[in-house]
Amino acid sequence: MFRSIAALAFFLVFAGRALALNIQFGGTIGNITASQLLAIPQGPYSPACADTCNTANSTIQACGDTNDQCLCTPTVGTQLQECEQCLFAQLIDMNMRAPDPRVGSNPGLGAFTAACNVSTVKLALVTPPNWVGPTTEILSLPATIVTVGFGAILGFSIIFLLSNIS
Ligand SMILES: *[C@@H]1O[C@H](CO)[C@@H](O)[C@H](O)[C@H]1NC(C)=O
Ligand SMILES: *[C@@H]1O[C@H](CO)[C@@H](O)[C@H](O)[C@H]1NC(C)=O
Ligand SMILES: *[C@@H]1O[C@H](CO)[C@@H](O)[C@H](O)[C@H]1NC(C)=O
Repeated sequence: MFRSIAALAFFLVFAGRALALNIQFGGTIGNITASQLLAIPQGPYSPACADTCNTANSTIQACGDTNDQCLCTPTVGTQLQECEQCLFAQLIDMNMRAPDPRVGSNPGLGAFTAACNVSTVKLALVTPPNWVGPTTEILSLPATIVTVGFGAILGFSIIFLLSNIS
């Protein structure tokens, strides 16, 4: 009796692990689950995005990390994108770098779609209208560094997204 319960418990733990949606974020983040994708540090960008990010957060938590069918839907994809887009716009507004690769993250969206195999949902961040970007000619040095940093992030993201499209 005890043995079969232990075997069942083992099976459930093992099955849970085997089925958890494996989002290969890479870098310092590594492989993460859907809920870990939004387990980002609080920062000055948080309050403005609390509503959108909480929506994505609760949808993902309601699904659970192992329910791929529930997670890999356009609804979750859209909510995730809205949260990341909001964070991204906040970072630009505040002229700050992302303190964590998951904040305002194009690679995060790409890794999510790759994990889900959902080619129907194209997720990508767009620069907000108030983004002056690297095209601005007159920049102070710190501003140049920050915008060049963003340019590099965008460049990387575009390459990352392209490599996921094929
Ligand atoms: C991440 O997941 C992939 C696919 O399951 C696996 O091949 C890789 O070894 C994992 N990487 C790490 C750091 O666990
Ligand atoms: C999502 O929920 C987790 C756990 O409650 C929390 O740590 C995280 O900050 C939330 N993410 C966002 C973007 O609000
Ligand atoms: C996506 O495709 C890979 C390779 O075909 C497969 O191992 C993985 O389970 C799929 N993921 C989902 C969520 O269907």
